[in-house]
Amino acid sequence: MAPQRDTLTHQLRYAAAHPDRVLPHLRRLVRNLAVGLRHRDHVGFYREVMRHNVADDPDLAIGSASRRRWLALGEAQFEFLVANGLRQDHRMLEIGCGNLRGGWRFIEHLEAGNYTGVDISPDILIAAQRTLVEFDLQDKLPRLTPVRDLTLSWLPEDHFDVVHAHSVFSHCPLDVIEECLAHVGRVMAPEAFFDFTYNATDGQPHQVLREDYYYRPDQLIDLAGRYGFAAEQRHDWSGNAQSKLRLRRR
Ligand SMILES: C[S@@+](CC[C@H](N)C(=O)[O-])C[C@H]1O[C@@H](n2cnc3c(N)ncnc32)[C@H](O)[C@@H]1O
Repeated sequence: MAPQRDTLTHQLRYAAAHPDRVLPHLRRLVRNLAVGLRHRDHVGFYREVMRHNVADDPDLAIGSASRRRWLALGEAQFEFLVANGLRQDHRMLEIGCGNLRGGWRFIEHLEAGNYTGVDISPDILIAAQRTLVEFDLQDKLPRLTPVRDLTLSWLPEDHFDVVHAHSVFSHCPLDVIEECLAHVGRVMAPEAFFDFTYNATDGQPHQVLREDYYYRPDQLIDLAGRYGFAAEQRHDWSGNAQSKLRLRRR
């Protein structure tokens, strides 16, 4: 579980242990304050943060410090999902697909036309198109779509067998997660599952720089329950430091 990262004590201790990270953190703080003045809403804010970060390096913008790590985390997502139910004939929706770190492997695995990826960042979706070219996946005809919210109203009912959101809710305030949970059940087939990762804390829910959000597991499990989902904690996920929940419609 993550420590309480929003406390001054934690931040001072962290700064003392990692002095090289202080300046980049302060730069992000100033940048995010400026972006936050122009964008009060989370989606506008995070879209703008992604625009800055993607311009520097799309892999880094989604949290991979090197191509090797980008490949490894994508592989971990893919291996977990295939070992835990993803079939080639499934229809898959990836929420916050980024530049297809896991996505290119899902697209390669699935039958043509069966992958839909959505993201709030048009810039990262352009980088995702480059990933499709890099891995020669044009014939698989994936759908990549920018969104402004997670109501998913443009997608058909009872359609997707697998919904996946890796390292997305770790960047979302609770109202955005709630919006997703309120609507995602409509597009899920009756036997479908929805896997997502999040930053778990056993303390108070908190956020850092409006970019990283931390939740208690019971908080998300209760919220999912309110929208008709049964939640299973997947302690067998070890691909990154985040925790994973699998939801099914009750
Ligand atoms: C850390 S990246 C992970 C990308 C991808 N899931 C992966 O694991 O490679 C988070 C992605 O989620 C997107 N994102 C953040 N909030 C979102 C939201 N509310 N709806 C859709 N996408 C969102 C970001 O633009 C970014 O591309």
